[in-house]
Amino acid sequence: MKRALILINAYTKNERALNQPRRLKEEFARLGVHAEVLRNGAPELLVNWGMGYDFCVFLDKDRTVSHLMEARGVRLFNRADAIEVCDDKTRTYLALFGKFPMPETLPAPLCYTPSEPVPENFLWAVEKRLGLPLVVKENYGSLGGGVYLAKTHGELRALAENLKLKPHCFQRFVAESAGRDLRVVTVGGRAIAAMKRQNVADFRSNLERGGVGERAVLDGEAARLSEEISAALGLDYCGVDLLFGREGYSVCEVNSNAFFGGIERVTGVNVARAYAEHICREIYG
Ligand SMILES: Nc1ncnc2c1ncn2[C@@H]1O[C@H](COP(=O)(O)OP(=O)(O)O)[C@@H](O)[C@H]1O
Ligand SMILES: [Mg+2]
Repeated sequence: MKRALILINAYTKNERALNQPRRLKEEFARLGVHAEVLRNGAPELLVNWGMGYDFCVFLDKDRTVSHLMEARGVRLFNRADAIEVCDDKTRTYLALFGKFPMPETLPAPLCYTPSEPVPENFLWAVEKRLGLPLVVKENYGSLGGGVYLAKTHGELRALAENLKLKPHCFQRFVAESAGRDLRVVTVGGRAIAAMKRQNVADFRSNLERGGVGERAVLDGEAARLSEEISAALGLDYCGVDLLFGREGYSVCEVNSNAFFGGIERVTGVNVARAYAEHICREIYG
């Protein structure tokens, strides 16, 4: 029997997150693969680490567990390294630096002394370099939750102060793209769907922040960029967020664990099926 493991986060109750394993399981069943869904931390996982399954669709981001599983020879979708690089926005920036257009991004210095204020000369240098408004991002944020806009030096200082114990970075604000971006999904290195997201009430276009998705034409430039990024990061599946700039697209971020419910609904493309088929081709030929 063909057997797959789908691993999800230990705690999540988010309905959009729980849709992922449900849809994939359904599509695997169509292809004759029995998929078992386990939460990270499930007792049997601590013993077998996914061995005994043909592969694991890793829908969590736990980098210790993903690497432990790979060390035992389990093929993960996505691979552990790819998930790890996408999880951290500054690592993604580094990995794509010089190869793809991205808004300039500056890392925040590490802070081990919370009683000390964020150095003013650093904040002024960030403001001078990136201009205002500028974007402040938690390196490990998602669904728009860790992304902020600093419109004044005071806001910049307050945000930096609040975030100083968490890894974060500062990014040039692409004003032309305020409240909108293009989400492109790639499977097996091919761009298969695109959705324009627009939010009239917030600069963040995430559907979770009130953004509204609509089917978009997958133009050549967006497809090429997304496919090359997916290859550069070794991703089997991803959602690339592209910002609209004066000189074309720039890369906002790459989501190794992008939810596909929204883009499936808006575009009619069966993303889960495409991903399951890609995985089966890789594993069973
Ligand atoms: N540099 C930027 N310029 C303009 N808008 C941005 C910029 N960075 C992020 N955004 C907006 O904020 C949203 C969330 O940012 P993103 O980096 O994708 O984080 P998340 O992982 O939370 O989705 C993006 O989809 C985009 O609409
Ligand atoms: Mg995003």
